[in-house]
Amino acid sequence: MLQGRRILLVIGGGIAAYKSLDLIRRLRERGATVRPILTESAQEFITPLSAAALCGEPAHTDLFDRNLETEIGHIRLARDADAIVVAPATANLMARMAGGHADDLATTVLLATTLPILIAPAMNVRMWQHPATQRNLAALTRDGVMVIGPNEGAMAEAEWGPGRLAEPLEIVAAVEGLLARPPSPQGGEEQVLAGRRVLVTSGPTHEPIDPVRYIANRSSGRQGHAIAAAAAAAGAEVTLVSGPVSVPDPAGVRVVRVETAREMLAAVEAALPADIAIFAAAVADWRAAGEAEQKLKKDGGEPPPLRLALNPDILATVARRGEGRPPLVVGFAAETERVVEHAKAKLARKGCDLIVANDVSPATGIMGGADNAVHLVMKDGVESWPSLDKEEVARRLVNRLARMRPQTP
Ligand SMILES: Cc1cc2nc3c(=O)[nH]c(=O)nc-3n(C[C@H](O)[C@H](O)[C@H](O)COP(=O)(O)O)c2cc1C
Repeated sequence: MLQGRRILLVIGGGIAAYKSLDLIRRLRERGATVRPILTESAQEFITPLSAAALCGEPAHTDLFDRNLETEIGHIRLARDADAIVVAPATANLMARMAGGHADDLATTVLLATTLPILIAPAMNVRMWQHPATQRNLAALTRDGVMVIGPNEGAMAEAEWGPGRLAEPLEIVAAVEGLLARPPSPQGGEEQVLAGRRVLVTSGPTHEPIDPVRYIANRSSGRQGHAIAAAAAAAGAEVTLVSGPVSVPDPAGVRVVRVETAREMLAAVEAALPADIAIFAAAVADWRAAGEAEQKLKKDGGEPPPLRLALNPDILATVARRGEGRPPLVVGFAAETERVVEHAKAKLARKGCDLIVANDVSPATGIMGGADNAVHLVMKDGVESWPSLDKEEVARRLVNRLARMRPQTP
């Protein structure tokens, strides 16, 4: 996928700068050309000469480079590439990017560009968790910057936690995601899922309390329906099992309508086998224990007690199936705090292959809204996407999933 693609690699001044040399090698092995920019601090860790030798290109370090500036070199660097990768992205670089600074070659290029940008942060765990860094991260994601990692692990200072640079191959996969091909020249989507069976769940479930009342949640079904539409546009044979929603049915998709979690599980089981199962529905964890047969009456006394019973766990049921388990099982995690941490725990608990996690606290406007900012949590790393409209999240997810499995199951 990277054959002939041009990557501008900004190397920040962190202890992980040496890993950027391996990243250069991995990108070039896949046919990309890599042009390096080193910050002044990066040159304390690795030399421009090693980066240049591995890239087979001169390394750029100075904003006021006499040779480059004859052609307004920083503008040319900002334009003549397919994507910019910042690895390692130091806390300082992230702050300068988020603040719109342009006080050296790296930040000037990053400000002067319209290219897609991927950053791979690496720093001490406390620097990463500092509210200032997290604020900068949020600002960068809002600006459309894609983030890979950092990973959890032992740090150089004998500490443990998130802060390690993502592995070079994870960064390569993220670059491929960033450069995922746009729609084909004919105007249609590329048929990356041709011949594959895809099952998608979407929307909320309604759990009746009595014949007129029910327990529900704020899911609109927009994200799940967009995924079903994107999978169909990518050539898949799609079954969409949908809870009660007001969004229209996607074109070219078989839609099965259900109301409760138990009905959804039955419809999912009936729709298997599938090559890919994507559980985007916000299934109620609980239902009312013992639905009243008649409408509960307000007769002036105490309110009736609402006892809850546990609903079936659809994602875990399918992910833990022996025979007939879809080769790729994807769950969604809607969280209101510690989103990635909770999603990692969910990935392990449910036995699925990937969790698409998002922050649904009311301030984000994600639940029921038009946009979504997701983290792809996998066994070997986390990919954080910028805020995108739900259709674009769906298209990118479909492309990403298509690359996670061989074309012929
Ligand atoms: C030994 C050493 C290791 C460092 N490692 C990191 C690091 O991993 N991540 C980070 O954000 N800053 C790290 N720093 C601090 C940065 O080098 C410093 O913030 C610098 O100004 C970053 O410059 P740049 O963002 O222009 O590359 C380290 C500093 C030293 C002395």
